[in-house]
Formats: sequence, C-alpha cells, structure tokens
Amino acid sequence: MMEKTFLALSLCFAFVYAIPAFEGVTSWSSIGSLVPGITYLEAIGPDGVGDATYHVPQYMSIQAPRGLPGNATVYRNKSPPLFYIHNNQLWHFHNESTILPVHVHNSTLTSKLPLQVVVGDRDPKLAKRTLVRGGNWRWQGTMLRYEQGDNSTPLFYSCQDTNGLLGLFLFLEPAPTPVGCSPFTMHSFNRVQYRS
Ligand SMILES: *[C@@H]1O[C@H](CO)[C@@H](O)[C@H](O)[C@H]1NC(C)=O
Ligand SMILES: *[C@@H]1O[C@H](CO)[C@@H](O)[C@H](O)[C@H]1NC(C)=O
Ligand SMILES: *[C@@H]1O[C@H](CO)[C@@H](O)[C@H](O)[C@H]1NC(C)=O
Repeated sequence: MMEKTFLALSLCFAFVYAIPAFEGVTSWSSIGSLVPGITYLEAIGPDGVGDATYHVPQYMSIQAPRGLPGNATVYRNKSPPLFYIHNNQLWHFHNESTILPVHVHNSTLTSKLPLQVVVGDRDPKLAKRTLVRGGNWRWQGTMLRYEQGDNSTPLFYSCQDTNGLLGLFLFLEPAPTPVGCSPFTMHSFNRVQYRS
C-alpha cells in the first residue's frame, strides 16, 4: 500500500523537476553510452525526508569528498552522485577510474536497528566485519529495491547515526519506522537505457 502511494507520488514528481547538472557530463546520452543505466537516485517520502514539503528534491549522496568512500545519506544535493546497477550490485560512478560498490552494513550490530548503506570501504578491516553478504539490488520500474534471501524492500530510512550525521538505513523484514527516522523510496527518473 505504502509502496503504491510512493510510486504514484513519484510519477507525479518525475516530470516536475529539471535534471540537475553533473560535473563533466554534457548530456545524458553521452554518460549513458559510457555507463548504461546510470542515474541519480531521488528520495521520495511522506515526510519529504526531514523537510515539510516536497518542493526541493533530495538525492542519495555520500558523506565524503567526491570520489571517496563514505556513509550514504540523502539531502538536497545540487550535483548528486551517479549510480548504476550491474549484476545485481549497485555502484557509484565517480569517473572512469573510481567506481565504488554500494553495500549494506550491519553497523549497528543489533538485530533491532536497521542496516546501514555505505558507499565503498573506508576502513576495509572494519567493513569486512560488518558487511552483509548475499544481497541484490534491482529496479522495480523507477524504484530501487534491496533484496536478501526471501526479503525484499524498497524502503529506506534517513536516521541519525552514532556521529549525529544523517545516515541511510534499511530493514530486511517489515518493521515500524524507528523514532527519529524518515521513510522513503528511491527512484531513478533519468535512467539512460543502453542503445547500440
Ligand atoms: C577519478 O577521481 C579520482 C578521485 O577524485 C582521482 O584521483 C582520479 O584522478 C580521477 N581519474 C580520472 C581519470 O579523472
Ligand atoms: C546483525 O548483527 C546482529 C548482531 O550480531 C545479528 O543478530 C543480526 O542477525 C545481523 N543481521 C544481519 C542481516 O546480518
Ligand atoms: C558511518 O556511520 C557509522 C555509524 O553507523 C559511524 O560509526 C561511522 O563513523 C560513519 N563513518 C563516517 C566516515 O562518518
């Protein structure tokens, strides 16, 4: 039910906003022929992700300088990072030599709290300990889903992490929205399909 509402909302908003400008990208067809299916990810939620209105789109972003690994987050990024899915893995494309995998980490290390979305490995040793393996990312229309075994979810949550920064979290199994977290779905409205 909630998914359907989000999807309907997404379709309304899909054509309202102009495509933001990206560094070094002259046109969607040029980046699309370089990396098929590349897109930015727009967050659509009932609370507008920490904002009272929908009027400014918010995008999946990375808490790090450009091209470096970091925790995923969502904000009104004027130049949002680009992502694509290849072999059920979500990747962040920075440039031809820097492409970072998007992983889910059991960083809270308790089964009650949601799992955290992290882009690349800042600390490979720590990352190995908390990495959740065997997950798949896929598109359902414009909507991003994360799947793990029999569980599949399009819902992500923006919540404060232990540093007080807004991180991106998810649950594998349906659960009530944690206090202080905003739920949303993530959408690729400008995904470039490969044409040879
Ligand atoms: C790609 O980005 C990284 C990190 O910003 C940078 O060090 C590297 O020189 C860039 N490579 C190219 C080909 O632009
Ligand atoms: C996350 O870690 C907790 C505590 O070790 C464990 O109970 C839970 O099953 C883990 N969740 C996943 C998805 O690995
Ligand atoms: C990422 O988030 C975790 C909390 O979930 C935090 O411990 C870690 O310091 C954060 N990493 C960075 C680089 O901010």
